[in-house]
Amino acid sequence: MKLLREADDYVSGQELCDKFMVSRTAVWKVINQLKEEGYLIEAVRNKGYHMVDSPDVLNKEAIESHVGSKVFGCQVVCFDSIDSTNIQAKVLAEQGCPHGTLVAADQQVSGKGRRGRTWESPKGSAISMSLVLRPTFAPNKASMLTLVMAISVANAIRDYDKTYGNNSWDVQIKWPNDIVVNGKKVCGILTEMSTEIDYINYVVIGVGINANIEEFPAELKEIATSLKLENQKFIDSQKLTEGLPNVKIEKNCAIQRARLVGAILKEFEEQYAKFNELEDLSFMQEAYNKMLVNSGREVKVLEPGNEYQAVAMGIDEEGQLEVRLTNGEEKKVYAGEVSVRGIYGYV
Ligand code: BTN
Repeated sequence: MKLLREADDYVSGQELCDKFMVSRTAVWKVINQLKEEGYLIEAVRNKGYHMVDSPDVLNKEAIESHVGSKVFGCQVVCFDSIDSTNIQAKVLAEQGCPHGTLVAADQQVSGKGRRGRTWESPKGSAISMSLVLRPTFAPNKASMLTLVMAISVANAIRDYDKTYGNNSWDVQIKWPNDIVVNGKKVCGILTEMSTEIDYINYVVIGVGINANIEEFPAELKEIATSLKLENQKFIDSQKLTEGLPNVKIEKNCAIQRARLVGAILKEFEEQYAKFNELEDLSFMQEAYNKMLVNSGREVKVLEPGNEYQAVAMGIDEEGQLEVRLTNGEEKKVYAGEVSVRGIYGYV
């Protein structure tokens, strides 16, 4: 699939046979299977095959064809429908799966959010993925991994828009780990781990992205959006101002989820390597703070039993949010203990 997608011209049947050491009939069968899945493949006698269009499919083959990372995604397990990829990742981790295993699903029926909340991942339109890590650093460093994933997802989403979209997404991070596009949440991250007193058995980092979701329930409409909806809004605004839009965005404004999953794995692999070496966030502190939607804004800090207003300044090397209180006092807020809200709404 990768070979066909990346080729500018036709790829001959013989080339495919040689590359995969299979018969012509086997190649023909795979091409037909891809066509059934919605791939548009032209077959021309004496020339071969040319992939004209690929659909938004989230399955093992599609993800693997986009994996460019070395360790993350070394093993891909993908379900059509599952309770929660975090739950399944923990099961696989208990059974000894390797560091870097990716669990993904086209649908989750009991997706988990932070603070015991539920997370909706409707069929065919969301990204639900969980990575199993087996770090060798101390357990007290693990909470920083969520921020490492947050900046990786934010970078991958921003680059996706630059390459395949219209550069119309303003991608930000709401501390500690919500990804916000054009002011609304598109992604949440849930990190879970199993530890002993002094070492980590495994960490599971779950990422949920509202990729192609078309509608949100009334109570979420004001605070959540999807990448597809943001594409649609952009196209509509262009139609109003410029007549016909210069559409670089793909068919139906939908994004290709497997492609974005591959980009996230690649980005996370690079960021993780730096974190693993330094064991703090100094290498990404500046970049994270540039994307921080809370920066310079008033936030409500909800510590258990203590609620106060402050202005957010940025994260320190350990991912704590530095805030200034109205009396000028500066404090550090630890992500595990508190939640931060904008005083006028979600951000
Ligand atoms: C949040 O509350 O913002 C975090 C949401 C995390 C959702 C993802 S979807 C993939 C993984 N599996 C789950 O059950 N949850 C996480």
